[in-house]
Amino acid sequence: MKVSIIGAGNVGSLTAMRIAGEGLGDVLLIDVVKGLACGKAMDLDDARPILRHNYNIKGSDDIRLVKGSDIVVVTAGLARKPGMTREELLAKNAQILKDVCLNVKELAKDAIVVIVTNPLDIMTLYALKITGFKPQKLFGMGISLDVARFTNLVAQELGLLCTDIEALVIGGHGEGMMPLPGFTKVKGVALDEFMDEDKVSSLVSRTIGRGAEIVANLGTGSAFFAPSAAIAEIVRTIAKDEKRIIGLCSYLNGEYGINDTCTGVPCRLGKKGIEKVIELELSQDEKTKLHKSATLVAQAAAQLLT
Ligand code: NAI
Ligand code: 2OP
Repeated sequence: MKVSIIGAGNVGSLTAMRIAGEGLGDVLLIDVVKGLACGKAMDLDDARPILRHNYNIKGSDDIRLVKGSDIVVVTAGLARKPGMTREELLAKNAQILKDVCLNVKELAKDAIVVIVTNPLDIMTLYALKITGFKPQKLFGMGISLDVARFTNLVAQELGLLCTDIEALVIGGHGEGMMPLPGFTKVKGVALDEFMDEDKVSSLVSRTIGRGAEIVANLGTGSAFFAPSAAIAEIVRTIAKDEKRIIGLCSYLNGEYGINDTCTGVPCRLGKKGIEKVIELELSQDEKTKLHKSATLVAQAAAQLLT
């Protein structure tokens, strides 16, 4: 398995470390900045004797090396700065994504492509439209990170292990994010058995604001530890054909009554990519909210394409 990671910044390099460390495949790190990916790959290479692990990692500024990749993770782009919304990143990152994805299409047309660059949902739909990749094979990472954040905040609040919480989030990885307390369980018991409505809604708000809260604390750049863990989970699920259900930013073609746009929904993932979009029984209110945010994604991507 050859896994290429495009963008050797915070998210890309940490993802490379996790994928190499887990032995999920040969890792190629690419960055447009001369020497950056090469230097980081050399550094990761030097850790092999200490870790006693002969993983294979290379780095380069030459995107042609992506040729023949089985999985391509796209983290190339600018990160959010304090006070900046994900949507403000749109124009700059769309140009970067276009260059990168057209190269990927030419060099690795059979690869599974995982988009990470923000604003995630718009970038995923835009990448699908410009490449013509099958939606099963090109999707975005975002909502599984949001699920992890919601899970973590619930676990902290209740003083329980994260593994006892099964949280659910759908929608956009941004302002359209919809943590779903009604689908969130603590060892199979409904969340509202453990806390009142005000507490639930404060955890929902904190989940939606978690990325921005981290940006504000960091001062420069955005989150990378949990994002890289979420990407590695996706790569592992594909590489091992685990067929797990993971929240992904997926193209919808009728599911949830939504057409021709992308949003975050639970999906069954395996070695061929998305095998099935899981449809939840949403309330009318939730359906309306999901439709609204998915429509905004379609409108923004359409503007980029004109
Ligand atoms: P970063 O600034 O540390 O790294 C981005 C890297 O992309 C830089 O090294 C830059 O030189 C490189 N790059 C730019 N144009 C390129 C091109 N044409 N080809 C190859 N490399 C190129 O940023 P970070 O923190 O790694 O984040 C990367 C992206 O991922 C951002 O857009 C960020 O908003 C997004 N992100 C998305 C998450 C999600 O859940 N979907 C979570 C965390 C970050
Ligand atoms: C996050 O949610 C920046 O999308 C990134 O942390």
